[in-house]
Amino acid sequence: IDGIKPDMPLAGKRVLVTAGPTREPLDPVRYLSNHSSGKQGFAIAKSMAELGADVTLVAGPVNLPSPLGVTRIDVETADEMLQATEAALPSDVFISVAAVADWRPAARADKKVKKAKLQGGLPPLELVENPDILKTLCQKTSDRPTLIIGFAAETNDVIEHAKAKRLRKGCDWIVANDVSGDVMGGDHNRMIIVTETGETEWPRLTKQESADKLAQSIADYFKA
Ligand code: CTP
Ligand code: CA
Repeated sequence: IDGIKPDMPLAGKRVLVTAGPTREPLDPVRYLSNHSSGKQGFAIAKSMAELGADVTLVAGPVNLPSPLGVTRIDVETADEMLQATEAALPSDVFISVAAVADWRPAARADKKVKKAKLQGGLPPLELVENPDILKTLCQKTSDRPTLIIGFAAETNDVIEHAKAKRLRKGCDWIVANDVSGDVMGGDHNRMIIVTETGETEWPRLTKQESADKLAQSIADYFKA
């Protein structure tokens, strides 16, 4: 296509990425969360921007610098992440890398819960389910991104679980990640890309190398 440089194959494409954990408060000083570092999502945002995409990165609480040229929106809870993600539509691509907390405390105390006040044992921790951001975007009838990519962090039967998850969420591709080892917080991973037509396994690479390969695959998808 005229005007699109070969090294900028995603020029003109809008890309939305979620990354990091979410943090679900119990009170002003306590929360429920997980060990996601945000590294993989940030690496993907960087790779996509380097191929010329217009990238919006919705990030949970992480300790990472913003990739160059990426619009970053910081959020805390799953509800806020859903809101920010929907507000960033329309987008050509949605890559759901965030480790969204599946549940949040049913109630959020506005003052610190005091230990001394609790009589008769520990306080019960009642949870409610968080919105499923990936599924919500997949099910959109208007503004659904053309290519939606989910992630499946699994510790066992990785491909089987990922295939089922792809169908359950309604996403186009799912990236299966074996998190049984040092993946969470680490700098390496092994991605398996599951699409409608089959699976492609990549070797153990750095998260940035995997991100570059994923960005290239997305560019190839739009070229075809
Ligand atoms: N996801 C999401 N919102 C949620 C939960 C998950 O957007 N509330 C997205 C993740 O970003 C990921 C995909 O859904 O792209 C799969 O997340 P995962 O935690 O592996 O799947 P769940 O459906 O939550 O199932 P489980 O945790 O039981 O394996
Ligand atoms: Ca989950």
